[in-house]
Amino acid sequence: SRMPTLTRRAFIASGAALSAGAMLPLQSNARAAGAREFRLRAEQGRARIVPEPYGDTSVWCYDGSVPGPELRVKQGERLRITVENGLAEDTTVHWHGVRVPNAMDGVPHLTQAPISAGKDFVYEFDAVDAGTFWYHPHQRSFEQVGRGLYGALIVEEPEPIRVDRDIVWVLSDWRLTEAADIRDDFGNMHDAMHGGRVGNAVTINGRIPEAVAVRTGERIRLRLINAANARIFGLDFGGHEPIIVALDGQPVEPHAPDGGLVVLGPAMRADIILDMTGNPGSRVTVQDRFYEGLEYRLVDLVYADTSVRDKTPDWPIALPPNPLPEPDLATAIRHDITFNGGMMGAMVMQEMGGSMGESEGSPNPTEGMMGNMGKDSSMGGMMGNMGMMMDMMHKGGIWFINGVAAEGHVMEPMFTLARDRSHVIAMTNATAWHHPIHLHGHSFRVISRNGQPTRHREWQDTVLMAPREKVEIAFVADNPGDWMIHCHILEHQAAGMMGVFRVA
Ligand code: C2O
Ligand code: CU
Repeated sequence: SRMPTLTRRAFIASGAALSAGAMLPLQSNARAAGAREFRLRAEQGRARIVPEPYGDTSVWCYDGSVPGPELRVKQGERLRITVENGLAEDTTVHWHGVRVPNAMDGVPHLTQAPISAGKDFVYEFDAVDAGTFWYHPHQRSFEQVGRGLYGALIVEEPEPIRVDRDIVWVLSDWRLTEAADIRDDFGNMHDAMHGGRVGNAVTINGRIPEAVAVRTGERIRLRLINAANARIFGLDFGGHEPIIVALDGQPVEPHAPDGGLVVLGPAMRADIILDMTGNPGSRVTVQDRFYEGLEYRLVDLVYADTSVRDKTPDWPIALPPNPLPEPDLATAIRHDITFNGGMMGAMVMQEMGGSMGESEGSPNPTEGMMGNMGKDSSMGGMMGNMGMMMDMMHKGGIWFINGVAAEGHVMEPMFTLARDRSHVIAMTNATAWHHPIHLHGHSFRVISRNGQPTRHREWQDTVLMAPREKVEIAFVADNPGDWMIHCHILEHQAAGMMGVFRVA
């Protein structure tokens, strides 16, 4: 069978990556005294996701809760996190967006051996950047994240900007049956070929929210984290003007979002400043309006009867920059990457005699939204399972990077970036779908979209690419090792839309 071969090759890849990681420019590898100690136990649990009269839901989670515990440290502190695997399968933890040494990146078979059931692994790294980050498994993440394994990692600035409240919303969605159980159709072909596993129950901090209490005059720093497998959010704060002060943890010139919506692809974060300008006793609705015609009410903000102040505060909101090396565009080395697939996978599927249905056109993420809870989605049932998806991948994949679909979990680097040099990666989305593209180990500036320079040259670790869009990113490759680049629609990743780049 194939497995032993993969395991042996993977082990070799893992060893290579570990020795590359020994160079460590950003951080020291040594166990340090004075690290902040945390424990996270991945395990099965039960969570109340849906309000009464539904029952609670069997989930996979960290320390018995969804999301897992919020890890909050100060910039410059060192974290030492012992991850215990109480699941019945392998796992790892990836610290999404944190610029960690390669060996701490949590990618199974690439940066470490997977943590097997009953075992543990100690992650240790410095919080070099302040900002809003998150953690999640990188092992079969389309199922492990989809069952509830994720949590927030907040790194506070030495002197945070002044606000009345600092609030974290971990956004996610779930595909639930009418008994509020997680629908067990992870890895099906329909999700993989379309917009990924979009759920029918959207949650804030692990619950379908009822209302959020606010007060007239208060200033809130709202840290938004999209932990969903596949759902893209476009949040409308009901007449409030959100001011974005950070994206993917990295400070950005404070600005109101274009078109008024705070758009978050899977894995993306935004820190926004919300001045609560509504009247005492009033109520406004926060909506998700990303997909036109498929808007829905996310949650109501309910104002108290009294106000905290009668004037909007004039406190400064710009965040201090993180210590990121500035790419030099004049000397940058250029690389081109094209994302394709979807349709090609569909043709392979047809050859295999499979049932195709719609292969092009816009995704309908709310197929089976709240109102449809419990009903079978039209195709999910007949489109096979993960075994079939793996089989497809060996026949040529569904999604590709530069024409190559990653096979299994053994990956040779697709390209090498000269260490400490500036690089521009010109990415083309040649598909009819959105893809949030994530690079490990680095943050990058988004410098252009469709040939137009971006206004804010925002630092990101995950950039949402619209259908057919071209995006250029730039960064200094200062973190040696083998790193993942992949779509963060986790079903796209599993169906081939991932690769490895080497910094050496
Ligand atoms: Cu958030 Cu490669 O992952
Ligand atoms: Cu994708």
